Amino acid sequence: RNADPNADLRALVRTIPDHPKPGILFRDITTLLLDPAGFAATIDRMADTVAGPFDLIAGIEARGFVFAAALAHRLNAGVLLIRKRNKLPGAVIGVNYALEYGEDRVEMHADACAPGARVLLVDDLIATGGTAIAGAELIRRAGGVVAQAAFVIDLPDLGGADRLRAAGVEPVTLMAFE
Ligand code: PRP
Ligand code: ADE
Repeated sequence: RNADPNADLRALVRTIPDHPKPGILFRDITTLLLDPAGFAATIDRMADTVAGPFDLIAGIEARGFVFAAALAHRLNAGVLLIRKRNKLPGAVIGVNYALEYGEDRVEMHADACAPGARVLLVDDLIATGGTAIAGAELIRRAGGVVAQAAFVIDLPDLGGADRLRAAGVEPVTLMAFE
């Protein structure tokens, strides 16, 4: 009924069938990043949708870093890097989470977040929500408050946004793909 206000950005996301395996429609944001006006509008609209203020913007490796860094600059917040296992040099805390096959682990520096800090969790895309929920748990364990989470893309059929909300974090997203 209402025109999609982000149809212009949606058109900049490329879909690659059967990556990384047969049957998956991979929603590729590299084409959005290559477009200067598209990337700028993505950051502007994410910044306008979230409810700050935030002390830190937490980006999830790897694609989440790009959006988290630009948002942090725009919102005058710091950048907190949530990385895959064994990448960070200091003392870390970690959370394991289930993938479709097997398990992965995200880590952050144990001292990265002051007690009570308001954190915005950011990634390019939420699918099952496993990655985002693990990231939120990390921030909470470190003493931070996960005030909100922002994603460029939601895959609602996979239920991640609902799962994240059930875990106590309100997700905001710019667009959805089936
Ligand atoms: C993708 C995406 C999210 C995650 C979403 O990352 O960037 O981080 O999957 O899936 P989920 O909601 O089911 O957990 P990927 O693991 O491909 O890592 P990358 O960004 O390092 O390529
Ligand atoms: N991460 C999980 N599912 C994905 C998809 N369909 N496209 C891009 N990244 C993803």
